[in-house]
Amino acid sequence: MPVIAVIGAQWGDEGKGRVIDMLAEKAKVVIRCTGGDNAGHTVINPYGKFGLRLVPSGIFYPEATCIIGNGVAINPAVLIEEIEMLNQHGVDTSNMFISDRANLIMPYHTLLDGLEEDSKGGKAIGTTRKGIGPVFSDKTARLGIRAGDLLDKATFLERLRFVLDQKNVILTKVYGASPLSLDEIYQQYCRYGERLAAHIKDTTVMIDEALNREDVVLLEGAQGTLLDPDFGTYPYTTSSSPLAAGSCLGAGIGPTRISRVLGVFKAYCSRVGTGPMPTELMDETGDLIRERGHEYGTVTGRPRRCGWFDAVAARFSNRINSFTGVVVTRLDILDTMPKLKICVGYKVDGKTIDYFPSSVAVLDRCEPIYEELPGWQTPITHIREYEQLPPQARQYITRLEELISCPVNLVCVGPERKQTIHKMPVL
Ligand code: IMP
Repeated sequence: MPVIAVIGAQWGDEGKGRVIDMLAEKAKVVIRCTGGDNAGHTVINPYGKFGLRLVPSGIFYPEATCIIGNGVAINPAVLIEEIEMLNQHGVDTSNMFISDRANLIMPYHTLLDGLEEDSKGGKAIGTTRKGIGPVFSDKTARLGIRAGDLLDKATFLERLRFVLDQKNVILTKVYGASPLSLDEIYQQYCRYGERLAAHIKDTTVMIDEALNREDVVLLEGAQGTLLDPDFGTYPYTTSSSPLAAGSCLGAGIGPTRISRVLGVFKAYCSRVGTGPMPTELMDETGDLIRERGHEYGTVTGRPRRCGWFDAVAARFSNRINSFTGVVVTRLDILDTMPKLKICVGYKVDGKTIDYFPSSVAVLDRCEPIYEELPGWQTPITHIREYEQLPPQARQYITRLEELISCPVNLVCVGPERKQTIHKMPVL
């Protein structure tokens, strides 16, 4: 039975949540592997419309065990709020577990994220200000506090005192901010620990049991490949790896157990925050895509930058994730376009290149070379069979397959579960 990693293949917000929500019907385990509450996975189903930040998108299927893996940075206040919101909508969360190895977002992380961004002026990354950079820095610097620490109050207090002493020096001496109170944070996080205790486990054991039973396991990636700190548009990236490899690490599953890697692409490109995006459209077409696609951040509400599909970036994304199949979401947003463009190369410094440069300075100078395809100019949201799509839409999908060098499994033509065309079923 397969272990399927669902990976954002562009700059995030590709629609991973709705893909997981759909595949989870047949899954026994769904694992959120990376990121934190900077993610907002939108799911629309019979329970309502949800922007899930931390809880895996499989939570709506009572038979599925949902796990927040070791690679996720957890803000316990946000998680508790989300659990309560789901319970109020009649969704059972008792089958959701949290890795005891997951790092916690502490009040100094969110504070420092804002202070660091403000101090960068024009060079700010445009982070979600959820504490993501600071929490993953602390994890690497071995200054993290983990979910499991909340289960042992004496050890937690000792650890918090040690870390907070250092953070207060930075807050007061570097940023001129007020110090944070040890007692307040300790009391607050002990309450969170009591509330979450039943969910906190060594999740590697239950994952291993599921793998040995050959259950269908879904790995839910967060953000997108081009925000990866190694391969993305560094430094304009997030701080944990959205790649397939990051999912293995963030769940505690070896790469040989992964049987499929699904790359989720929007039919166009979008990005929030600063950093290069070669196909960004600063014109009416960009505005049209934004308005038709309601391209505003799930977490921050910021307008997303929109542009044509970038096949150079897409090929790169495939190269570093080894996709076995592709999901194209939001094809219907392009319904009204008379012509569609796909970026097939870049012009930079007088040369034509067909690869995604590592340097943001070079990327900033890249001008897209476009191939033009005819639009279909008719609504497709009601279509469920691939063969019933207008020929121009099929031509667009075929061209994406050729350019990405990977077959398309699914095409999404609307936000609801049923608005999916199973070109080549995944399960
Ligand atoms: P951070 O992850 O909050 O540190 O933000 C770093 C960059 O990643 C910023 O450009 C954010 O806009 C972007 N980012 C973080 N999470 C998401 C996401 O879930 N979708 C899209 N962009 C994201």
